[in-house]
Amino acid sequence: MIQKPRGTRDMLPDEMERRREIEARMRARARLYGFREIATPVFEELELFTIRSGEGIINEMYVFEDKGGRSLALRPELTAPVLRTYVEEGRSLNKPIKWCYFADCFRYERPQKGRYRQFWQFGAELIGADSAMGDAEVITLGYDLLRTAGVKFVLRIGHLSFMRTLLADLADGDKKKIRAFLDKREEEAAVTYLRDIGQDQLCDPLIRLCGARTLDDVFAVIGEIPEAARIREMFAILDASGILYEINPAIARGLDYYTGVVFECFAEGLGAENQILGGGAYRLAHLFGGEDTPSAGFAIGFDRVMVALGEESWIPWQPQVMIITTSEGRDYALTVAEQFRMNGIITETDLMDRSFSAQMKAAGKSADYAVIIGKEEVATGTITLKDLMAGTQEKVTADEAIEKLTSA
Ligand code: HAM
Repeated sequence: MIQKPRGTRDMLPDEMERRREIEARMRARARLYGFREIATPVFEELELFTIRSGEGIINEMYVFEDKGGRSLALRPELTAPVLRTYVEEGRSLNKPIKWCYFADCFRYERPQKGRYRQFWQFGAELIGADSAMGDAEVITLGYDLLRTAGVKFVLRIGHLSFMRTLLADLADGDKKKIRAFLDKREEEAAVTYLRDIGQDQLCDPLIRLCGARTLDDVFAVIGEIPEAARIREMFAILDASGILYEINPAIARGLDYYTGVVFECFAEGLGAENQILGGGAYRLAHLFGGEDTPSAGFAIGFDRVMVALGEESWIPWQPQVMIITTSEGRDYALTVAEQFRMNGIITETDLMDRSFSAQMKAAGKSADYAVIIGKEEVATGTITLKDLMAGTQEKVTADEAIEKLTSA
């Protein structure tokens, strides 16, 4: 037996319906903020991701050479592709550009619950806005989308300037190491590392900064930095919008392109893979041949959202109809089926050449209503509508049946 590749999943109809429902709610919500969907290729030039995505991502990429000898990679994320698209196609568009996407990404990670090698992200990128309002709106949208999906989560917000200020005098390699420890939430390892490189004076401030939960606490450690006014303004906007968050200066983000505010959401009850959203302000356009352009965005790990939501059924109930007919009734049944479907009712007919009684039995297993069409119904232009749960039936016109089913 040939099995699916490790880290991938098959999604059967029940799951797909749940996913499509949540996806549709999120798309519609993003549209209300003026974000419009774009699509980019599943594979890109490898270089697009090696320029600035960071080692973590580079080591996890699916890389291949095509027949023309080009080095390509399956996209591990969409921020770099979206910014490439902006540079290639979108530079003349009015700013700010508000784009969102729902797409699959590929990372060669060790699979476990909530961590896959093919997974879906719902993301948004705001390109060309450099303001506290812009940063706040991106965070608000991410927060709103997760609420729309119905997940319970906490939002943590930090700013890279906090650690940048504290660690300003360290060599670049050391800063990277500290950031990597913080990204893995290994603060103690970061402190040990500082000691090992003879930077003991930074240990206590690092611990205090990681533990700071108000802006006053943060600035007490690092001083009033030039970005302070803008950062305060952004938090004031979030407060005015009623967004609940925790300040967390230890947020480092695994990707290398962030420059300013960074934020992450964590779902309740998901275990180790509980980060369901990651984002921040970044600059990438200039690396792809465009002008240096401020941008901010986030991506929601859609599969993790679905794991967090669990399997209870929150898809609105829709009646399912099976038409049961004899060969004389077939043509009439086809017109009735068409009429039902025109009115948005899920309607199936027998495709197995089953006998009348076998059709009835099959309907009992899969449908809510049976529409029975025999000689008499054809002659009188009616149908017999049987409620398979209640076991009751009545002879009505197709219009009356539609009226009944669509108001059920
Ligand atoms: P990221 O944090 O690497 O950021 O990924 C975003 C989200 O994708 C994560 O929070 C997680 O929920 C989900 N995710 C990541 N890896 C996996 C996996 N192997 N299986 C399932 N879900 C996963 C980015 O990708 C950035 N591009 C976000 C961004 C957009 N920043 C600015 N704009």
